[in-house]
Amino acid sequence: MLKTQDSAFWRGQTVIVTGGAGFLGSHVVDLLRRAGCPDIVVPRSRDTDLRDGAAIEALLGKTRPAMIIHLAAVCGGIGANRAEPGRFFYENAIMGIQLMESARRHGVRKFVQVGTVCSYPKNPPHIPFVEEDLWSGYPEETNAPYGLAKKLLLVQAQAYRDQYGFNAIYLLPSNLYGPQDNFDLETSHVIPALIRRFVEAKEAGAPSVTLWGSGTPSRDFFYVEDAAEGILLAAEKYNGRDPVNLGTGQEMRISDLAALTARLVGYSGDIAWDTHRPDGQPRRRISAAKAAREFGFVAKTPLEAGIRRTIDWYRDQVPSATINVDAKSH
Ligand SMILES: NC(=O)c1ccc[n+]([C@@H]2O[C@H](COP(=O)([O-])OP(=O)(O)OC[C@H]3O[C@@H](n4cnc5c(N)ncnc54)[C@H](OP(=O)(O)O)[C@@H]3O)[C@@H](O)[C@H]2O)c1
Repeated sequence: MLKTQDSAFWRGQTVIVTGGAGFLGSHVVDLLRRAGCPDIVVPRSRDTDLRDGAAIEALLGKTRPAMIIHLAAVCGGIGANRAEPGRFFYENAIMGIQLMESARRHGVRKFVQVGTVCSYPKNPPHIPFVEEDLWSGYPEETNAPYGLAKKLLLVQAQAYRDQYGFNAIYLLPSNLYGPQDNFDLETSHVIPALIRRFVEAKEAGAPSVTLWGSGTPSRDFFYVEDAAEGILLAAEKYNGRDPVNLGTGQEMRISDLAALTARLVGYSGDIAWDTHRPDGQPRRRISAAKAAREFGFVAKTPLEAGIRRTIDWYRDQVPSATINVDAKSH
């Protein structure tokens, strides 16, 4: 059960949640509703294309929000990042740059920019990753265009705070997973890809599943409902200039994750690794200390429980007859 947010804080606020119909956004909107926020605006890309400055101006002029939680992005797993690095750079940068500029001109009182752990250097000097090391090197190559585009928005947030007194905060979630995730094998992140591969292999009676990479990298897997709670706690309580990580502070190797997911799905075949495929960043474990200190956020969903819920959700969505047993690896 998620902690109830501060209803008094949210009452009377108009809040725009860009990307509010997406994976993370749907959980943020759900929690905002439960917190009693009376007026939540979720602009959809088909109506309000955030790459278009005039569309943003029209949205803000019409809705006059007190707060914007900016989650809209183009994102995905290693395959998606490698397929469209130019689009991932341009669209993530231009949406955020224009939106933040319009927000400050319209007098928006708080802007919550959601960044990404992909902005960290490939090999930062400390594990777990601490926010002070964000600029200590270039990101892992496959996700650098995405990670750097989003990191530009940290510079913008800090510059606007310094020059205009604009209250923009910046959060860095680690790798999310959970219900409502994207299970399209072309674009998905690792946990939905593993769940789908093992569910399909089990249904097909496949003797083995081959996965991308060596299995040695680690990630800090963060349950999406916990992430939504962390974002809203920060929106309520944090008004600082410095970026803040959001995650569990723990890491798991992809090979161990694959074994765990196979067990939870009930797949008992072999797991093989295609080491010609890229691994992505070697290690990812974030320090969760600052979020706990600054706004009292601590992730609470154990990985096994979160994966179980995600598997249950996926099975509810996908009748077994529609599962594509020929789907390729993540
Ligand atoms: N997933 C992760 O593991 C992860 C980890 C760290 C940080 N994040 C960050 O969390 C945020 C949400 O990620 P997510 O995984 O929930 O993504 P998602 O499910 O792909 O949702 C992204 C949303 O962005 C909206 N969008 C994209 N382009 C748009 C445009 N041109 N105009 C208006 N809206 C547009 C889409 O709206 P429509 O549905 O209306 O098209 C979509 O619902 C992103 O900022 C991402 O960088 C994600």
